[in-house]
Parts: sequence; C-alpha cells; structure tokens
Amino acid sequence: MAAQPISRDARIYIAGHRGLVGAGLWRYFTEHGFVNLIGRSSEDLDLRDSGATAAFLDETRPDVVIDAAARVGGIAANDARPAHFLSDNLRIQLNLLDSAVSAGVRRFLFLGSSCIYPKFAEQPIREEALLGGRLESTNEAYAIAKLAGILQVKAIRSQYGLPYISAMPSNVYGPGDNFTAGDSHVLPAMIRRFHDAVRAGVSEVTCWGTGEPRREFLHVDDLAAACHVLLDRYDDALPINVGTGVDVTIADLARLVADVVGFDGEVRWDATKPDGTPRKLLDVQRLTALGWQAAIPLSAGVKSMYEWFLDHQHDYRR
Ligand SMILES: NC(=O)c1ccc[n+]([C@@H]2O[C@H](COP(=O)([O-])OP(=O)(O)OC[C@H]3O[C@@H](n4cnc5c(N)ncnc54)[C@H](OP(=O)(O)O)[C@@H]3O)[C@@H](O)[C@H]2O)c1
Repeated sequence: MAAQPISRDARIYIAGHRGLVGAGLWRYFTEHGFVNLIGRSSEDLDLRDSGATAAFLDETRPDVVIDAAARVGGIAANDARPAHFLSDNLRIQLNLLDSAVSAGVRRFLFLGSSCIYPKFAEQPIREEALLGGRLESTNEAYAIAKLAGILQVKAIRSQYGLPYISAMPSNVYGPGDNFTAGDSHVLPAMIRRFHDAVRAGVSEVTCWGTGEPRREFLHVDDLAAACHVLLDRYDDALPINVGTGVDVTIADLARLVADVVGFDGEVRWDATKPDGTPRKLLDVQRLTALGWQAAIPLSAGVKSMYEWFLDHQHDYRR
C-alpha cells in the first residue's frame, strides 16, 4: 500500500500527545480539521507495557500512528541515566510497532533524531550517513535505541510490505518545551538561565561548553506540518531529514536568547563542560523535493517560545 493523503476522518493515534512534539502534532492536526485524534497519557497507558499497548491498539484500531512518545533529555540527563534512555525507548517503540502491525495500522511515522547520526558525519548530513561512523558518546544509549527503531521500521516494510516510515527531525523547540534545569535541551535551558539572571539582577551568565558548536533549530509547528506532508507523500525505507537547512553557533543562539529575554550582562563559556557533536546540520533536499520547507524563522520562534514560558513559568509540567 503506497502513501496517499490521509483523510480528515482517519483515526490518528499520537503517542506522547502531551510532550513537546506530540502536543504540537495534536494542535496542528486539530487546526487542520482532523476529527478523530487519539491520545493517552503515560499514566493511562504505559507504552513500556507490551500487553497494555497491544490491547489499546487492538481496541482503538487507529489508521495512522505517529510515535512521539519517548524518554527524551539533554546531555546531563542522558549522561546520568543511560540505562533508562536505552531500555525505555527500546520498549516503547518495540511495543508500538509490533502492536501496530498486529492491529492492522496502515501508516506509521516513527521519529528518530538528528542526534543519532555519526558524530563526525559529513555536513550537511544526508540520510545515507546513518550508521556510517562512531556515535556521540554523550547520547549513545538514546541513539542506539532510536537506531533500532529505524531498523525495525525498515524490517516491517520489508517483511510485511507496510508503508511505515521514519523521520529525522533536528533540534525541536517551541511552546510546551521542558524548561527544568538539568533536564532540558540547550534552547529552553538558555531561556531559563537568562530569564533567571535578569530576575535576580545577575550581570554574568555561564553557559556549557565553548559556544562554538553549530546547531539547527526547528520550530515544533514546522515539524508538525512536515509530518503531515510525510504521511501524505513519503514512502521509502530510508528515514527522511526534517530541518530548516540553516544552523547557528551556540554563541549566536546565546546572543539571540539574551536579546529576546532582555539580558544585557556578560556571557561566559565553561569549556570544561562537553560540547557534544561539533556540527549538526541536516541536508533537507529530500524534504524540499516533496514540496515542503520550514516557515518559522529562529528569531520569531524564540520570541514566541519566551512568551509561552512567561505565561506558563509557574505551572509548566516538569
Ligand atoms: N525535542 C527534540 O528536540 C526532538 C528532536 C528530534 C526528535 N525528537 C523526537 O520526538 C519525540 C518526542 O520528543 P519530545 O521532545 O516531544 O519529548 P517530550 O516532550 O519529553 O515528550 C515525550 C512524551 O512521551 C511520553 N512518554 C514517555 N514515556 C512514556 C511511556 N512509558 N508511556 C507512554 N508515554 C510515554 C510522555 O507522555 P506523558 O506526557 O503522558 O508522560 C511525553 O508526552 C521523540 O521520539 C524524540 O526523539 C525530539
């Protein structure tokens, strides 16, 4: 069965619909007239539980599954809890994919990540670079789990002839992000740190690493729109990159965040902390060939994300 546009009344299960990506998908599909969305919190359905996951998909019989459920975190969290990152992610994706096949799910979109490409992959990173070299050691456990998911999608396509696909988003940001110190990604962590510095009247902020690595940032609303395009049009065993095609240095990002947050003090860099991969820019030619490109500039995205943070700083979820 080849890819074809998803009808507005298709039953779409968004796994992880309360997370950054899942909530963005939920907003997008709701705003675009999809009327049969299905979501369950981890309290109601623990996707690490194979029996519960199989029973749920058997009962709800979605046409489409988007897997945005995972244990996700920044360098510090990956470093502190590698066993959780490996074990939880393997189980969540294995249970979802196996159960989807059994329940007759027609389309499945698995989300990999740009951080699972080899550490020294040629830039910009083409999809073919996957599995071509050593991984970044700070997120090895997470990457190995995600790579297994991508291989499982490929295996399901080959064994069952189902048009399941994988996408590789770059660093995602936007409303609903995790701003918890020590557990968050670079952009929300910076927003939080600069915001706290302004409030405390501190004149100096120290960020991790040298500031030299280059990163690409994709707004979650752009990712959700791209996922729709992929479900409608993409049918290939090779995972497809989803990014903006533009990157910035972490130091540039710090300047942008400082500007948005109103911090006019000094930014220092703690080079004793790991930098991670030197550069991570995705080659997005495959995606643009499908007729889609990202629309939200980083400066506008950071501004709206900070507004969201100000509205939710007292009640964000973690
Ligand atoms: N954020 C990024 O920069 C980025 C970049 C590339 C790819 N991705 C991919 O996008 C996906 C989602 O990431 P995210 O940033 O949205 O993460 P997130 O905000 O932490 O959300 C993860 C979601 O997974 C759900 N979940 C975790 N463990 C679960 C379990 N045992 N059972 C059921 N649900 C569980 C959580 O559900 P509850 O809220 O109900 O607990 C949560 O809603 C991941 O696959 C990630 O690899 C993210």
